[in-house]
Amino acid sequence: MRALDFNNKWVLVTGASSGLGYEMAQQLAHQHHANLIIAARRADKLHQLKADLEHDANVQVKVIVADLSVPEDVERLISGCLNGQELYAAVLNAGITHFGPHAELSQHAFELLVQTNVISVVRLTGELVKHFEQTRSEGGIMIVSSMAGIFPVPYQAAYSGTKSFLIGFANALAHEIQSRVLSLTIFAPGGIVTEMTATEQFNDLQSWLMPVRQAAKEGIYALKTRKFNYVPGAINRVGNVFMKLLPKKMIISILAKTYQRSLSKVNKKGKIQ
Ligand SMILES: NC(=O)c1ccc[n+]([C@@H]2O[C@H](COP(=O)([O-])OP(=O)(O)OC[C@H]3O[C@@H](n4cnc5c(N)ncnc54)[C@H](OP(=O)(O)O)[C@@H]3O)[C@@H](O)[C@H]2O)c1
Repeated sequence: MRALDFNNKWVLVTGASSGLGYEMAQQLAHQHHANLIIAARRADKLHQLKADLEHDANVQVKVIVADLSVPEDVERLISGCLNGQELYAAVLNAGITHFGPHAELSQHAFELLVQTNVISVVRLTGELVKHFEQTRSEGGIMIVSSMAGIFPVPYQAAYSGTKSFLIGFANALAHEIQSRVLSLTIFAPGGIVTEMTATEQFNDLQSWLMPVRQAAKEGIYALKTRKFNYVPGAINRVGNVFMKLLPKKMIISILAKTYQRSLSKVNKKGKIQ
């Protein structure tokens, strides 16, 4: 399969109002001259991004304000992507976490996490794959998972579960795709400096985090060159291989201690002790 060329093509980026999605939208527009469909809940941020990119990068941008934990919004997003322009690629990036003891995650919050991180992604992927197969058009879909889906992270147990689901789902689905011009990429970053990690619970872990620009650049590279599973950052890639050689229980126990230490510095009122 030849590499994707985003020039003047339409690319969907979910979760484009901040963090990795925002940065990928910037780089896709400025460096690859892609037209963008940008989606998230915060309309003001999306409209500001549209204005900036249309002015500074001279690309077309379509805004779809959607809450991906709401099934009707997911359907509206699908129809907005498949009607009105020819979709070339999709970055399914929107996601949320819960960092803290699992016992503190309410059932309602857990269901929102699963709706956002899993159910919307499965629905979007399924419909987009169907579309690309039916139209026999060239394209690429990238699902943003996490290293937490490869090595489960205690105190982000539900989040790790959702990201692990995505890796299993996408690795299996990729082998069902018949089209020879459609690729499915699974992107699994380690920690990144974004709003997700901007809370004080992550204070102790800041040195582990990758700059968002680098993560976005490597994500676009993975999508463009049609990588299958891709972990950004040389250290993360080496760690990923090395950690798989060690007993899983030992690795998870080290992660548990590290995350617990970072959490313990924040008291129940959310103040640093
Ligand atoms: N930061 C990390 O350390 C890290 C590491 C590995 C993987 N990841 C993954 O990278 C992806 C992006 O995260 P980030 O770090 O960039 O976090 P972020 O800055 O918090 O961005 C998350 C994005 O998802 C959108 N989003 C959240 N809930 C949504 C909903 N219900 N409907 C629609 N959009 C929603 C947010 O927009 P609105 O709030 O405007 O809706 C925002 O644009 C996530 O899938 C995350 O799991 C992050």
